[in-house]
Amino acid sequence: RPAPPETLVLTTASADLDRAAALLRAGELVAFPTETVYGLGADARNGRAVARIYEAKGRPSFNPLIVHVAAPDDARRHVQWTDAADRLARAFWPGPLTLVLPLRPGHGISELVTAGLDTLAVRVPAHPAARALLHAFGGPLAAPSANPSGRISPTTAQHVLAGLAGRIAAVIDDGPCPVGVESTIVGLAGEAPELLRPGGLAAEAIEKVLATPLRRPETSDTVTAPGQLNSHYAPRARVRLNATSAEPGEVLLGFGPMACDLNLSPSADLEEAAANLFGHLHRLDATGKPIAVAPIPDHGLGHAINDRLRRAAAPRP
Ligand code: TXA
Ligand code: MG
Repeated sequence: RPAPPETLVLTTASADLDRAAALLRAGELVAFPTETVYGLGADARNGRAVARIYEAKGRPSFNPLIVHVAAPDDARRHVQWTDAADRLARAFWPGPLTLVLPLRPGHGISELVTAGLDTLAVRVPAHPAARALLHAFGGPLAAPSANPSGRISPTTAQHVLAGLAGRIAAVIDDGPCPVGVESTIVGLAGEAPELLRPGGLAAEAIEKVLATPLRRPETSDTVTAPGQLNSHYAPRARVRLNATSAEPGEVLLGFGPMACDLNLSPSADLEEAAANLFGHLHRLDATGKPIAVAPIPDHGLGHAINDRLRRAAAPRP
């Protein structure tokens, strides 16, 4: 099948959202903004459409994808619901939280979405454009981040086009993503709730609602989160962490009050830093110079920021 010749750039006007929904129904790929990052959406019930996600991203293997739905009741149609899921959904949905739960019989989701696992990752996004698209489409959307496999995640429609133009049918442009790092993934299919990926919702907030600490797998690239490869979110340039100043030839990505080329948050606000993270990395990567990154505090959203930075700095395969 030939790739779509041109990628449409759509707005959030209702005629454009209807057009996007029609493309999705026809099995095409549509990138759309969420509060975390731009997602690359396909009909989660259509195996051929989901296969196109892997093809467009150049994913080397079939890692399981997150399914996006309009409301908690839609999630419950696909997974076996639990008390913990109910508490977290009430507290944090819609929002940057993904829950992994056992699939329900008759769930209707393509096996390519779950990569053959008996669990499903599901979330209800908060971004108005994502919600409007889910409403217009009227079904579950599988959506990984809308970037070529292993590259920096996209937080603007321009990032999406830079990586995937000509390989996807359309992108809905609604400006930069407010949270800026991917959703926090909590596994609820085992004996105890597990933090499978730190993300845009602080683990501390989740633990407060569950009234129990989240179990943390020793590394986040265990079999439980098969997509969490070590080298990920990688700029083309080399990345050096915990830098207090730039070496000759490097550009410095700062945090807090300091002299640097770009600052994630001059006022040391972790939410602002998360929102700026991928955009600043894209910008510094375009200079072609190695990137030095200042230390980021490892609490709240700093946990997700440091996770992404460690992957960006990890040795490449
Ligand atoms: O914020 C986000 O979560 C974004 C936006 C678009 O919603 N999506 C996103 O998707 O980050 P992706 O494909 O880049 O990351 C999905 C992660 C993978 O690391 C995968 O291992 C994990 O979710 N995952 C998916 N299904 C899983 C399952 N059944 N069990 C464990 N981990 C799962
Ligand atoms: Mg991704």
